[in-house]
Amino acid sequence: MPVDFSPLSCSRAVLWRVLGTRRRNRADEDQDVAPLRPPPLTATAWCLATVLVRLLLGLGLASSATAATVPDTMAQRTLACTGCHTPAGQASTQGYIPRITGKPAGYLAAQLRAFRDGQRQQDAMARLLANLDDAFLAEMATYFARHSVDAQPAQVRPAAAAARAAGQRIVQRGDASRDVPACVACHGTALTGVEPSIPGLLGLPRDYLVAQLGAWRTGVRRAAAPDCMAQVARRLTPDDITAVADWLVAQPLPAQRGAAAAVQHQLPLPCGSLDR
Ligand code: HEC
Ligand code: HEC
Repeated sequence: MPVDFSPLSCSRAVLWRVLGTRRRNRADEDQDVAPLRPPPLTATAWCLATVLVRLLLGLGLASSATAATVPDTMAQRTLACTGCHTPAGQASTQGYIPRITGKPAGYLAAQLRAFRDGQRQQDAMARLLANLDDAFLAEMATYFARHSVDAQPAQVRPAAAAARAAGQRIVQRGDASRDVPACVACHGTALTGVEPSIPGLLGLPRDYLVAQLGAWRTGVRRAAAPDCMAQVARRLTPDDITAVADWLVAQPLPAQRGAAAAVQHQLPLPCGSLDR
């Protein structure tokens, strides 16, 4: 009897051998199915082997097809991040969570190490970063730094006009009587940050800005020593901090939103962040 290696015939052959019987159906009756002997043992074994090989090949192809649909890209790997942070390219002064796109790569990498190692506090991030090495953190930082930032609406609180004026003075000129340096002296005249380690101060939520300055005052946030931002923050009063934040969030992002080239001039205070 010729052996048909199709999966259906094979299954029937195997079942026939195992059960010793053959289920007759209407199709069988229409055909000539006179020989009711089971197919030879070797043919059944071949049949079985062929079906198994096809099955395994099929599974292999299916699993490689599934793997191919999940690309191993940084966009994919950082989906856990962009679930909380605004998606790449967007800035927002709303809520609390800061954008991470368009900030200098050196600054971002230092922050990721700080969250992992405990100089900054955010539990969910600390858990995500716990087992990642410095090289991978630097790769992620470069990825987020590369994205340009879209414009976002400025957030102007009508009641805060006087505070905004006070905030503008501190940001642009500082307060010599209290040794408060102008923020622009380090963060760049456009306040979009300076390569490679100073972040921009525009396009961030007000609550985030206030919280960061407060965290430096209380030592909850620490940067590499000498920690110039801790010194700046300790010279500010709580009213200064809200005033500065009110003015910063009311500023639209300028057309050129990337960080400025590295500073050549002397900073008003030494910053350890620049040496890392
Ligand atoms: C559960 C929400 C959440 C997730 C998930 C998350 N973050 Fe954050 N991230 C935050 C919050 C909240 C802050 C602000 C923390 C603070 O107050 O200092 C922050 C701050 C940051 C900062 C500092 C920004 C700055 O301007 O200093 C960076 C960089 C950052 N996150 C990167 C990441 C990356 C990369 C991932 C993915 C591995 C990630 N985050 C996942 C909530 C999250
Ligand atoms: C002497 C230089 C210097 C001066 C002056 C300065 N900054 Fe900074 N600032 C830095 C550096 C450096 C960092 C990054 C610190 C780090 O690595 O965590 C920083 C970070 C910050 C951050 C964190 C931003 C973020 O995305 O988390 C805020 C907010 C900030 N500065 C606000 C201010 C304000 C407001 C002023 C003016 C009152 C000011 N800074 C003046 C050097 C300076």
